[in-house]
Amino acid sequence: MSSDPGASPDREAGIARILSFLKAFYQRSQLDEVRRGFESLEGELKGHLRSDEQAFAQALEWVDGLSRGGSRREAKAMPHALATSFAMLANVASVGTDGGDLGSLVPSYRNQLQEDRAPAMRSIIRDHFSKPIVALEIGTWFGKGSTQIWIETLPRASSLFMIDAWSRYITSEDRDGDTNPSYRLMDKLPQAAMTAAVREMFRAEARPGNDIELVLMRGRASRVLGLFREELFDFIYIDGSHYYSEVKRDIALAKSLSKAEFSIVCGDDLETLDPTLIEVARRIQDRDFITYSGVGFHPGVTLAVSEEFEQVNTSNGFWWAIRRNGAWGVV
Ligand SMILES: C[S@@+](CC[C@H](N)C(=O)[O-])C[C@H]1O[C@@H](n2cnc3c(N)ncnc32)[C@H](O)[C@@H]1O
Repeated sequence: MSSDPGASPDREAGIARILSFLKAFYQRSQLDEVRRGFESLEGELKGHLRSDEQAFAQALEWVDGLSRGGSRREAKAMPHALATSFAMLANVASVGTDGGDLGSLVPSYRNQLQEDRAPAMRSIIRDHFSKPIVALEIGTWFGKGSTQIWIETLPRASSLFMIDAWSRYITSEDRDGDTNPSYRLMDKLPQAAMTAAVREMFRAEARPGNDIELVLMRGRASRVLGLFREELFDFIYIDGSHYYSEVKRDIALAKSLSKAEFSIVCGDDLETLDPTLIEVARRIQDRDFITYSGVGFHPGVTLAVSEEFEQVNTSNGFWWAIRRNGAWGVV
């Protein structure tokens, strides 16, 4: 049933009551997305209530019923126009936050990407891949660092699998020792990190023209990687656990999951392959990061990479190896 939009002052007053009822819900949320979501559907809902008299009458009856102190259970079923608005708001609100303002106060890096590594990371994709590929990232964290590089640079219609444990993972030596406090902070943020990554995924998918398929998986990499078939991936980036036993297993599995004809395995935090420091790393397998003779490095990554590859390329701590016709090399 249609009527003349805006014809009756009563109708306009009723619409204002309905909208302010909805507003009360969104105002309880501090999320920008919910506010923007409400603003974008406000006009749509207003137009609908103006043009459909029956929908308007039902919505007003429902809102007034609740406003008079009725309970949601007593009220009639929510009219469809309102239910749609609530569903859209609930959907944006459910994407959650990364801790919001509180999270931004934490002096731990929600974006762990080191800027000086970004150019090599971008060009490794641009230089080697022009057709859609299947890519894998181990260690997504908040989805604000390396993940964004892959989303921006992967060829159109590629797939990006993102795996992260999103749980406490540092060893007791790192938890109780004189470790860099940022590791201990990271260990307290897994839920915020995972929620943020989900949010980043939806954001990326909402970007105009995005056609990268994003697949998010939670679990220890060594467990999840075992579920894939061999030679599935064109590209694998490893930035998960940096402890020797885990990163060694992750690299070994990544090698078997890489396409034999052509693929790239790469990763973060390889500061050195100095033979003396490799020997130091052999003795220290329960620390994420150490400083020895003035060199700060990740012993697990150094040892595992040195054992798994004869040679790798490096750029400011980013490392990569290339597989061609089954053989691993640097070009
Ligand atoms: C250094 S952060 C990754 C940073 C991210 N790449 C970025 O650029 O912001 C390491 C991540 O590895 C995850 N992680 C640790 N151990 C893991 C494991 N065994 N399997 C999968 N992910 C793991 C942590 O939860 C954390 O999110």
